[in-house]
Amino acid sequence: MTAEEFWEKQYRAHQAWGGRANPLLVEVASPLTPGTALDLGCGAGGDAVWLARRGWQVTAVDISPTAVDKVRGHGLPITAEQHDLAQTFPSGTFDLISAQYFQTPLPLDRAQVLRTAAHALHPGGRLLVVDHGSIAPWSWNQDPDTHFPTPTEVAAELALDPAQFAVARADRPQREATGPGGRTAQVTDNVLIIRRAAA
Ligand SMILES: C[S@@+](CC[C@H](N)C(=O)[O-])C[C@H]1O[C@@H](n2cnc3c(N)ncnc32)[C@H](O)[C@@H]1O
Repeated sequence: MTAEEFWEKQYRAHQAWGGRANPLLVEVASPLTPGTALDLGCGAGGDAVWLARRGWQVTAVDISPTAVDKVRGHGLPITAEQHDLAQTFPSGTFDLISAQYFQTPLPLDRAQVLRTAAHALHPGGRLLVVDHGSIAPWSWNQDPDTHFPTPTEVAAELALDPAQFAVARADRPQREATGPGGRTAQVTDNVLIIRRAAA
């Protein structure tokens, strides 16, 4: 099964996915002056919609056509594009690029995608990468030996020029998450912000 087939099947099967904005995106973007934003692996568009409603000029991309259609269906001025980010990357430069749980069980050179993203930042722009740092009780993956790369490890993998890109945040906050059926649990997020040097 290709990556597109895999994710397309998920979004067709889970029509209710993706309505809410992710807490770390809200926390990081709330104090920022709206500008241009790119959402990598946007899913059904909870984050893109949240950003657009706050005045950001949003480009949202996903490999699943159904997910991209959902984003378009909100009727907001969001540029929603289908890309396999392993193959193609949206054009433009951005003040904020967000990759929220941009994690896939299929082979993907994610570091290369995130490296490309860093180079698509405006001077002074931020790349926000939020990954799962623990296993929620409702997760499909219950393997206790799963290694979640730390934000520091993710930053090292990108191997960006330190004269151009600085790690502005690398931590592992905990929060209460709500899963299917309203069940709650404490989860850990791995949070990395890389800031491009101002011009
Ligand atoms: C775990 S989901 C997270 C979705 C969304 N960001 C959220 O927080 O709900 C990962 C997303 O990455 C997308 N994705 C996976 N591989 C991709 C690829 N190669 N190119 C573009 N999007 C991809 C999937 O379709 C899916 O929407």
